[in-house]
Amino acid sequence: MQQSVLVLDFGSQYTQLITRRIRELHVFSEVRPCTISPDDVDLSSVKALILSGGPASVTADDAPEFDPAWLSLGIPTLGICYGMQLIAQHMGGTLGSGARREYGAAHLCLQKENPLFYGFDAGQKTTVWMSHGDHVEQAPEGFSILADSDGIPVAAMGNDETQMYGLQFHPEVVHSARGDEMLSNFVLSIAGLAPDWTPDCMIEQSVTSIATTVADDAQVICGVSGGVDSTIAAVLVHKALGDRLHCIFVDNGLLRKHESTEVVDALGPNGLGLQLHHIDAADEFLKALEGIEDPEEKRKTIGRVFIEVFDREAEKIKNVTHLVQGTLYPDVIESVSVRGPSATIKTHHNVGGLPERMKLSLIEPFRELFKDEVRALGRQLQVPEYLIRRHPFPGPGLAVRVPGCITRERLDLLRDADYIFIEELKSSGLYDDIWQAFSVLLPVKSVGVMGDNRTYESAVALRAVTSEDGMTADWFSFPREVLARISNRIINEVRGINRVVLDVSSKPPSTIEWE
Ligand code: XMP
Repeated sequence: MQQSVLVLDFGSQYTQLITRRIRELHVFSEVRPCTISPDDVDLSSVKALILSGGPASVTADDAPEFDPAWLSLGIPTLGICYGMQLIAQHMGGTLGSGARREYGAAHLCLQKENPLFYGFDAGQKTTVWMSHGDHVEQAPEGFSILADSDGIPVAAMGNDETQMYGLQFHPEVVHSARGDEMLSNFVLSIAGLAPDWTPDCMIEQSVTSIATTVADDAQVICGVSGGVDSTIAAVLVHKALGDRLHCIFVDNGLLRKHESTEVVDALGPNGLGLQLHHIDAADEFLKALEGIEDPEEKRKTIGRVFIEVFDREAEKIKNVTHLVQGTLYPDVIESVSVRGPSATIKTHHNVGGLPERMKLSLIEPFRELFKDEVRALGRQLQVPEYLIRRHPFPGPGLAVRVPGCITRERLDLLRDADYIFIEELKSSGLYDDIWQAFSVLLPVKSVGVMGDNRTYESAVALRAVTSEDGMTADWFSFPREVLARISNRIINEVRGINRVVLDVSSKPPSTIEWE
């Protein structure tokens, strides 16, 4: 059985980074909500425990539930920020709060040598990232103070006998200069886990688990779009179930130029060999969208029609028990947060609502993974590189890139312009430096002059951003000559567009898509 590090999530925005850093050490790690008890987990594979940070105060009435039995299992345990305060509270230390809040970079000063800081010298200072209101004032009995900082007396504490440690700062964020060494010391040296986990192990584990979860005569469905996550999820499940996996590809009429054919070629019998059900539902979607200008109403309409179309197709397949989704870790983090989901900025639509409606169980092989980890897995599964490197494309497609009313003509104009934009990015070698690039058809016309004639035509905006995960993004800085070529080609080749503008907004405060 795969040995693992279990991370209990108390709602920190950084919890996902802890698992990621550990997997970078080639050790498997997974997150569970802080409210579960040790009885709910198969502890035989858990070789180390990490208690994450969190927004609450451990002494507050609304502090998340925590079963103290976790602290008497004899498993090496590391508390981070809130997790350290929780250890101090349960082991008899004292906490301080209030006036001395600390956010951002701080200097950690090591007081003594310790296995957690192997490779560091006593008295050495290192930069760490703090984000806390409360802190540990006095370490519990049996714990040594390992480090202090400018702001607090106990920035790190440890009990080598019980192998229980606490860090007031966040070693998992890149701003903690040597945080990765501390995590490595805890996981590999103190807890003694072997660095033998690779994406290959993940494939084997998933394939076995899917094959045993789904009954022998049962069928499974998966909505595919040609995007990275759904494609790789489908390939993985296909490896486990073969043609008992049915991939449903809905062409909603909001795809890019030639995209529908490309997806069928890439995923179907001539490509990855998936059993593909291709449904052309463009008319149905465009009819439902007629006259709708409001962005949220567009998204909801597309979501509703998608479910209707998908459901109708799925009903033709007998004995379906499971639905595959390529959900990634950043997609689920809000739902595992003890604080609940944050405010809706945009209703993201993929196949949300489908499992409930169709009474299907979910298979989500990537629930614990980040996009780059899924890409690595795709490479192991021999998914072609051009599919792996594709920029993300939103579920509602071009609808959210045509502000105002959607018509076939406007969609076609956008398709032609966007095709040129992406083609030029690929030919200039910039495509892979950009996280996402696309065009937006603006709801304005402007005057131009071509030859001796006045034109009064549409304008298109170019959007290209760099990002790690789509949560924050910066606009991409183009070489002037590339922009000149793109603009020139679009205006000359796309009849109906006489102006090209560049979007230079970062996220936040803007979002990546325009709607
Ligand atoms: P925003 O516009 O919210 O986009 O900054 C962040 C990332 O999410 C993509 N996006 C979506 N993806 N369904 C999706 O699968 C959606 O409804 C959706 N809306 C936006 C967007 O393209 C960007 O990559």
